[in-house]
Formats: sequence, C-alpha cells, structure tokens
Amino acid sequence: MKATHTNADMSHQNGLVYKMGVFFNSLKENGVLPTIRRIGQRFSYKVKGVDFSTQNIFDLTRTGEYQEHGTALVSTSVEFLRRLLDDLESVIDKPLEKDVFVDYGSGKGAAIIHAKKLGFERTIGVEFAKELHEQAELNIKKLNLKNVESLYADATTYTLPNNITLIYFFNPFDELVMTKVIENIMVQKEQFENDVYVIYGNASCNVLQEHFTLLKQVQYPSGARAEFYKI
Ligand SMILES: C[S@@+](CC[C@H](N)C(=O)[O-])C[C@H]1O[C@@H](n2cnc3c(N)ncnc32)[C@H](O)[C@@H]1O
Repeated sequence: MKATHTNADMSHQNGLVYKMGVFFNSLKENGVLPTIRRIGQRFSYKVKGVDFSTQNIFDLTRTGEYQEHGTALVSTSVEFLRRLLDDLESVIDKPLEKDVFVDYGSGKGAAIIHAKKLGFERTIGVEFAKELHEQAELNIKKLNLKNVESLYADATTYTLPNNITLIYFFNPFDELVMTKVIENIMVQKEQFENDVYVIYGNASCNVLQEHFTLLKQVQYPSGARAEFYKI
C-alpha cells in the first residue's frame, strides 16, 4: 500500500512537461478522438473561467482537527470518473442508482460537477480548505448547475443523507482521518435507504477493507488505481 503524501507539493502537475505526459497518455489509452474531445472540454472550461487546477494545501485555511492529514488537491477528470462508474456497473452487473453522490475531500468540485453531468440527481462535496471550497462554489455557479453543493467542513464531522447511493474518495487523507470517517459511516449504515457503493481511487490505506465488502481492485494503464466496495 502506498503512503499518503499529506501536505505534499504537487504543483509540478500544472507545468507543461506534466501536461504533455497526460496528453500522450490519453492518446495511448483513449485514442485520438476522445483526446481531442478532452482538450475541447478543457478549453471550454477555461473560457468559462472554471478552474480545476492542481493546488497545494499547506498554505490554505483549513478547518477542523486534522489539518496536517490531508493530501494536495488533484482533481478527478471526467474521463476517469466515467470509467470508474462504468467499471462499477460491470462489477455489480446492474445500472447504478444515481440518487446521491458524496465526495469526501472535494477540492474545487471537479468530481461533484462531473458526477452531476453523468446523471446523479444530487451531488455533495465536503472540503476542509476554505479557498478550494470557495472555488468549487464559483465553478458550480459558472456552470449554472443545480443540486450540486460544496460544503466547507472537515470530513470526519459530516453526516450522509439517508438516500446516499455512491460515496467517492480520491485519496483525500491518511489512515487516521479515514478511520474516523469510516466509523462515522458505519454508525449511519442502518439508516441508508438504498444499496450504497464506494469507490476509493488511488487507495493509500486498508481501512475500507476492514468494514465494507471489497468487490474489485483495478489498476489502469495510466497508473491510477481504484477499489470498489459495497457497504
Ligand atoms: C486528491 S484531492 C481530491 C479532490 C476531489 N475529490 C476530486 O476528485 O476532484 C483531496 C482533497 O481532500 C481535501 N481534504 C483533505 N483532508 C480533508 C478533510 N479532513 N476533510 C475534508 N477535506 C479534506 C484536500 O483539501 C483536497 O482538496
């Protein structure tokens, strides 16, 4: 299991060399047309002033007890989220109920925005860095989206809605915080109205395996990893 790099410097991801790497990777993994579509979408977001860029968190205003336990903001791409949802559907062998999607450690709102566009009724993000939460609110406003909410809070304090259907973690924090979050989810479990699934991208601890049913682990050609669970 890889260590979680809490407070890591990820700013190289905004540089040209890194972006060229992502471009060639996408060409290899997805082909020419999807890569062109991807560039077109990034361009349209740029024109609208929507910002999902990578950002370090060590100089941001963070709320709660676990300010030194979080990872830097690296946003989920729409292509990756689509792939994750498709793969989860093949694992469970039925269409996902797309009621409520919750992203723990939601940054600038990329995953909650993509999840809404990919069919969820309502999406909620919990983010402990004030500046990232404010950018998420701005992004939601610029895209004029309804039923997409960013909350400024520490993940360990959040109570899920009873109609939750999918929980998303994109390696947001270390084992200590993950343990608190999972314990909190287990307390609420009896109130859930539907089957609840969990996607853990780039997992860095084993806490979920101790409490939920592991359905599948996947390693993608890009190097990204995902674990799929049922609560
Ligand atoms: C790797 S980024 C993932 C961003 C987003 N989930 C996405 O996929 O686009 C991790 C995020 O978790 C946030 N985070 C870390 N610890 C947190 C905590 N205790 N409560 C809420 N958010 C936290 C960080 O500020 C950062 O924005």
